[in-house]
Order: sequence, then C-alpha cells, then structure tokens
Amino acid sequence: MARSDVICGLDIGTTKTATVIASVAKDGSMDVTGFGVAPSFGLRKGVVTDLEETVKSVEAAIENAERMAGVHISDAFVGITGEHIKSLNSHGIVAVSGDDREVVPLDVKRVVDASTIISLPAERQLVHSLPREYLVDGQNGITDPIGMSAARLEVDTHIVTAGSSFVANVLKCVHRAGIEPRGVIFEPLAAGAAVLLPEERNAGVVLIDIGGGTSDIAVYWGGGVYHTWTVPVGGNIITNDIALGLKTSFSEAENIKQLYGTADVTTDVAEETFEVKALSGRTTRSAAKSFLRQIIVARMNEIFKIVRANLAENCPPEVMLAELVLTGGGAQLAGIDVLAADFFDLPARIGVPMHVGGLTDTIKHPAYAATVGLVLFGAKADGALQAPHRNGKSPWSRVSSWVSEIFG
Ligand SMILES: Nc1ncnc2c1ncn2[C@@H]1O[C@H](COP(=O)(O)OP(=O)(O)OP(=O)(O)O)[C@@H](O)[C@H]1O
Ligand SMILES: [Mg+2]
Repeated sequence: MARSDVICGLDIGTTKTATVIASVAKDGSMDVTGFGVAPSFGLRKGVVTDLEETVKSVEAAIENAERMAGVHISDAFVGITGEHIKSLNSHGIVAVSGDDREVVPLDVKRVVDASTIISLPAERQLVHSLPREYLVDGQNGITDPIGMSAARLEVDTHIVTAGSSFVANVLKCVHRAGIEPRGVIFEPLAAGAAVLLPEERNAGVVLIDIGGGTSDIAVYWGGGVYHTWTVPVGGNIITNDIALGLKTSFSEAENIKQLYGTADVTTDVAEETFEVKALSGRTTRSAAKSFLRQIIVARMNEIFKIVRANLAENCPPEVMLAELVLTGGGAQLAGIDVLAADFFDLPARIGVPMHVGGLTDTIKHPAYAATVGLVLFGAKADGALQAPHRNGKSPWSRVSSWVSEIFG
C-alpha cells in the first residue's frame, strides 16, 4: 500500500453516491472512520448523463464523510460500472529471467503484463488484470510463485476493460469535486472484496450486486475472479413495474416495494392488502399483496434468467458454483434469497460488508457493499489500476496523463 494510512472509496451509483473513509493499520487491518451518502441524479445504468448533478452528489457525499472522520480527503478509489465494461480471461507466459532461475516479483509483474497484451480498440482501456492462478514449468494451481525455481512462468488472468470516454466522464466529475482519482475499480469486484469469504471464493461463488440501475455480476472460482458482467437493469425497474401495475407514482411504488414487497413465494399472502395512493396523491385504494408479489417475482425472475444465460455462456462445467451471494440495495427485497436459491438451485445468502472495523453499524448494509469494498480492494490494489506513478509505466499512467490532458 502506498502513500498514506487514510484511504477513501467513492461509489457513484444510480440512486446514491456513497463514500467511505478508512484508516489502515500497519498490519493492513482497516477501521472505517467516516461515511457519507447523498442522493444521485446524474447517472443512468451506471453511466454519467448529467455532469453537474453528479459533481454535486460527489461533493455532498465526500463532505459528509469528511465531517464524520474529521479529515480532509484529496484522493479516492472510484467505482465504475455500466454496460461498456467488458471482461475476458487471458493467459501470459514468460521465461524466468534471473541466472538462478528463481521467480522474483519482477517475473510475476512481467507475466501478468504479458497476459494483458490484447488488441484493444482505441476507445477502450484496461482497468484490471487479476491473476487467478500461476503455472510454474507447466505445474498449475500455484497462487504465489515467488521464490520457486522455474524456467517458465505462466498465469491465468481475468482482464477487465472499459469504454475510455465513460470512465473519463466519471473521473471528470470526481476531479471537479476536488478529488484526485487514485484508481478505478469495477464495482462488483469491490463488492466481492467486502462481502465474500476466502472459502467461498475457493469453492466457487456467484456474486450479484443488485443496484438501482444495474446488476453487477462477479464469479469467483479457485480463489480468483473467473467472470464479471453487468446487466443494465436493477431494482428501479421493479419499482417502475409496480408504479405501472398499481397506477401510482414512482416514489409511492418505491415505498410500497420496501414496506410490503416480497419475492418469497413460499409464504401465504392470499388475503393481505395494503393502501396505495392514486397518482394525484389525494385518494387511496387497497391492493392485494399477492398482486404486488406477482409483479416483483416476474421481474426478478427475468433478471435471474438473463444472469443464468450469461453464466451458462461464460462458465464452463468445470467452474463449479457452490453458492450465490446477493448484495446491493436491491438485495434488501424481502425473500429475494429464497427466490434466488430456488431459481439457481444453489444455496443463497445476502452479503453485507465485512473485513473492516470502526463504524460498522452504519455501513453493514448490502447497499454499501461496493462502497466498503472500494477501500478494501484499493488498499490491496490487486490488479487495480494504481494511482498516478508520475512518468511510470503502469497502464494507469496512460489514463492519468490523458486525464490531466482533459483537466489541464
Ligand atoms: N427494502 C428494500 N426492498 C427492496 N428494494 C430495496 C430496498 N431498499 C433499497 N432497495 C432498492 O435498492 C436499489 C438501490 O440499490 P443501491 O443503493 O445498491 O443502488 P446504486 O448503487 O445507487 O445503483 P447502481 O449500483 O445500479 O449504480 C433501488 O432500486 C431500491 O429500490
Ligand atoms: Mg451500486
């Protein structure tokens, strides 16, 4: 970890911007010292559509967190998501360079870099190259090859790339809010860092971060990341369906979803009803909970179907999946774990942020999984683009110089 013992994560979502400030102890453990949240109106499906609104939201969230932590923040790890983000699995191979043929950190860096030599269109940029396993003279299953004797070093990596202009627009907002981007992190990887246990990552787990505008997927297998993807729909589409189905406003539909909504088809709600405000807000009428559940389950199953088809396409049979973890604000929907377990035929649980101390009451909430994960992932910077080594050769330095070209 570089630079300082205070680290900040900035999660600019479709419904809210959330910021976590954490202090990092010498042993790497972290305490959350500040947390700030502000409504976000400048994004659609993870993509900035209104710069000014987004800047305002970032400023407010940062200010709240700074006030709580009593520190001034000048840089942050920034989460990104959206359909423009693509991923693939790659392989790198190098000859071990030293005379004694012992793998040193430079060999590891060289082999990971070798795996990132892929043809990228000019408008795309590399965001992550995440080693999953190393092979030493053909022997697989190695997680840390440093110190081993070998002639040849290989690596399997998961590579994440993003549309450069989409990233630039997020970073432009961050910069205008007075924050220097320290690195960008694909949101489901951040969420995974916060809510998963090492055992789950080893056994094979699908993480789904259901936000307002997107549902981000990350598949971990054999300890590393095997697949990542973004579905451009989240909890807001359910609220829309409810608003249409019950002929009411979006905000009333959101209240109803949170108060009476459930995706659990195993419980009996046959006779139960609730009151719905008409669009005018002046009159109310009653509606059946079973109808509300029908709307929710239909849409949720549709999202799950899209995820299942994508998993079938991208995860071969040897990638055994033992569990499903649901997180993000959308995972607060009552009974969603029951529905998901039945749909995917896998045990399912709700993921809340772990692995940090400090103000945990405030942040132990599925909606803040990615926010907390940004500091956890950022601190390790495992394959994350690291902040501006000025004149360095890291992929980030390309982004950084190009970012400073934009900002002048
Ligand atoms: N109790 C609840 N029941 C059902 N859904 C809920 C509940 N609380 C929040 N949500 C839903 O969670 C969603 C917001 O989740 P989250 O805060 O993770 O989104 P975001 O990070 O702003 O968006 P994104 O990640 O898509 O950019 C909304 O669609 C909201 O309706
Ligand atoms: Mg989110």
